[in-house]
Amino acid sequence: MKGAGPAIECDAVARRFGDRVALHRLDLAVERGEILGLLGPNGSGKTTTLRILATLLQPHEGAARVLQWDVVRDAMEVRRRIGVMPERPSLYERQTVEANVSFWAEAHGLADPAGAVREALRFVGLEDRRREPVGSLSKGLKQRVALARAIVHRPPVLLLDEPSSGLDPSAAAAMEGLIRDLARDGATVLLNTHRLAEAERLCDRVAILREGRLLRLGTPRQVRAALLGHIVEVELAGIVDAPARRAVESFPAVRETWWAPSAIRVRLIDAERDTPELVARLVSAGARIIAVRPAGDLERAYLELMSQPLPGSLAA
Ligand SMILES: Nc1ncnc2c1ncn2[C@@H]1O[C@H](COP(=O)(O)OP(=O)(O)O)[C@@H](O)[C@H]1O
Ligand SMILES: [Mg+2]
Repeated sequence: MKGAGPAIECDAVARRFGDRVALHRLDLAVERGEILGLLGPNGSGKTTTLRILATLLQPHEGAARVLQWDVVRDAMEVRRRIGVMPERPSLYERQTVEANVSFWAEAHGLADPAGAVREALRFVGLEDRRREPVGSLSKGLKQRVALARAIVHRPPVLLLDEPSSGLDPSAAAAMEGLIRDLARDGATVLLNTHRLAEAERLCDRVAILREGRLLRLGTPRQVRAALLGHIVEVELAGIVDAPARRAVESFPAVRETWWAPSAIRVRLIDAERDTPELVARLVSAGARIIAVRPAGDLERAYLELMSQPLPGSLAA
């Protein structure tokens, strides 16, 4: 390892494809041992960021470093230290699980490739299936082969592009557990995901990208609070009827409303000041309240952010 400092750094990294700007001067640092989730809509630059860090794509401006090694100048040093799960892991479907992982162990020139393969397959729980062709496995197990391949040389930094994309809930939970175990063993993880609930459980911090710009960076709690600070959710015993609706709509402190069959979510001017009166108004309208809570999970915060105009895109 080279000195101290963050495990991953992007300094004003920019990348274009033709006229299209995929990344606008991205600044990002991932601390050692941290799990950082890159979130954002399709086309927001998540894969481009990961590919630049994986030395597969060069930045047009700025610099990126992994464990202080520059991804362009010191690409070989970087490759030795990263484990990559690409967006579409190309596995050899006709070859066995073991052969797929062995190929990479050999490519890395490991001292004991067989031992490393065994260890990686044990970690992802595929030891028993090592002689089966990858093509016969479920999508969830194929993703585990891709993870085994990424970690066979025990890299300190992992770059995972949507590791649980397309997996059923059990397979996704298994993948989430494996990533958590890797971080617990000291790995630094940068992962792209659309699974916001997973990001909220798994990630120390999340970075939200949109159109190649970093819009928010912080712990899931910070991102939630910054975006949803004054949104309150009221759950009712019955359905939201017309009197309840009127009670909410006539309250001047209500800025915005979202309706569900038996829940109301409102944005207040000041949640602490206005929530008691909101509740009082609902009760007077005959509503039977089960729960009142600050709204929102990371998913709600994300949707809120996406509904806001982009900074810099000034309305005419
Ligand atoms: N190889 C490429 N050639 C042309 N355009 C690309 C290429 N890779 C990415 N892009 C464009 O760059 C932008 C960011 O893409 P990407 O990083 O793949 O986004 P994400 O992973 O967030 O969905 C998109 O507009 C995409 O179309
Ligand atoms: Mg992508």
